[in-house]
Amino acid sequence: MILHCIRCGARHGLDPMLHACPACGTPLEVLLEEGDFRRARRFEGRGVWRYEPLLPARRSVTLGEGDTGLHLCERLGRRLGIRRLYVKNEGENPTGSFKDRGMTVGIAVALSTGARAVACASTGNTAASMAAYAARAGVSALVLLPAGKVAGGKLAQAVLHGARIAQIEGDFDDAMRLVVELSRSERSVYLLNSLNPYRLEGQKTLAFEVCEALGDAPDALVLPMGNAGNISAIWKGFREWRRLGRIRRLPRMVGVQAERAAPIVETVRRKADHCRVERPETVATAIRIGAPVNWRKAVSAVLDSGGEAGTVTDAEILRAQQELARTEGLFVEPASAAPLAYLWKGRLKGAGTVVCVATGHGLKDPDAAEHAPVTMRRVKPTQASIRRLLEG
Ligand code: F0G
Repeated sequence: MILHCIRCGARHGLDPMLHACPACGTPLEVLLEEGDFRRARRFEGRGVWRYEPLLPARRSVTLGEGDTGLHLCERLGRRLGIRRLYVKNEGENPTGSFKDRGMTVGIAVALSTGARAVACASTGNTAASMAAYAARAGVSALVLLPAGKVAGGKLAQAVLHGARIAQIEGDFDDAMRLVVELSRSERSVYLLNSLNPYRLEGQKTLAFEVCEALGDAPDALVLPMGNAGNISAIWKGFREWRRLGRIRRLPRMVGVQAERAAPIVETVRRKADHCRVERPETVATAIRIGAPVNWRKAVSAVLDSGGEAGTVTDAEILRAQQELARTEGLFVEPASAAPLAYLWKGRLKGAGTVVCVATGHGLKDPDAAEHAPVTMRRVKPTQASIRRLLEG
């Protein structure tokens, strides 16, 4: 394995401290070589570490990540005109989001450098995950959060796992800039954002699991985009699984953003060579990001796969979140409902096999439930009043 730059093609050895290309600043990517694929013939066990031969670290700190449910949603599929609609429920990971897949690999690499502290900027889930893995590894955690914009469940996790928390008076993009600067000047603080190519390697295992469960790649994989690490990682996973000869085709990658926080969708539409929107805003605070660090990789994933990038409104997100909970019993956070909201607009209608990635658990953001219609009343402790509720 080596590191390479998807923009300028520069190649480097696997230096755990090297994350961005020294020549052009683009986030680097781990590249598997001929010998890596040749040696990776047997996969044993379950979860992320089943794929250890394709990962740039050895298992050290684990909480049982990966191996999440791939749920066939027949009723929703019928309503949306999709023959086989699946939801890959990443809320089933140990801290309730897909971040754990990357964090179990990222923390192993961090420990290999002798780091005493790990750090990240986060809209919430990365912070919760990193804090948990740091606790288990016995190193300290520093998280930079946009003040007032992190969902309650995620903040509670970071607090309980004992992270040091900086509430930045600014947005995620400010926090990201600050933590990158800090990790460059303070060598004992190891950066675990998705700028870190090693962490992203763990996240590619979602693609392997989907292919193993379905026997081939789906026609399309739909997921929310924020900092755009996940779409890049999963697309890489599909390509590697095909390179191994385990699948015959690749899926279309469909990335979804919130209408008022959609820099990548804009970049794809305009074929631009930059990616930024000012003052991003959305009820899906997980993806409230204006300057995604992995945008080049995300744009390649969408274009190279013949996929698409599109937006949904906050109202569409909340409706999809409620429909998924009421129709299929899956409670996901608002950002995780964005893919379904996109399908609701009639996109991908008539498709065969579609997998939506539900990136985080609904309990992460209990306040979002405020928007749902409720059948709840305060009643006297009598049979009559309960029966009235049953009927009304
Ligand atoms: N869904 C959820 C629930 C997320 O928490 C995130 C990102 C995404 C989707 C988007 O993933 O950034 O790889 O494109 N959350 C990050 C965080 C930014 O700090 O927790 P992405």
